[in-house]
Amino acid sequence: MPVYSEKVMDHFQHPRNVGEIENADGVGELGNPTCGDIMKIYIKVKDDKIEDVKFKTFGCGAAIATSSMVTELVKGKTLEEAEKVSNGVVAEALDGLPPVKMHCSNLAADALHLAIEDYKARKAGKGPIGRVETPEHDEDEHDLLEHA
Ligand code: FES
Repeated sequence: MPVYSEKVMDHFQHPRNVGEIENADGVGELGNPTCGDIMKIYIKVKDDKIEDVKFKTFGCGAAIATSSMVTELVKGKTLEEAEKVSNGVVAEALDGLPPVKMHCSNLAADALHLAIEDYKARKAGKGPIGRVETPEHDEDEHDLLEHA
């Protein structure tokens, strides 16, 4: 059984910013191909800053903790700063994750980056993109998302 840091346990048991944002400016949704878990992140953007962020995760404890930490790390940050929040940054902010759970941390950072891309695409008049594509897109993942 993996050993979790106190921070991971805290964010798992008391996740911050859970929920959805109605009329979000950007939405990122993707599935983890390793385990099939699904994550959705909503952002509200004002003056190029993330004014509000919320998430919903259908996933394991590490996925919930990393999502919660991602929302805390990027709330109030500029889009540019938020784009720099990588999986490694999130895992470090949680005082590490057990090696077998590192793949779970990819979900939160990737969903966030997707939500930002989605926001930019909408702003550029290219329509929402955050709900269908995944960063490491392949047919199986697409299937997973469509039938989830
Ligand atoms: Fe699926 Fe962790 S086991 S995200």
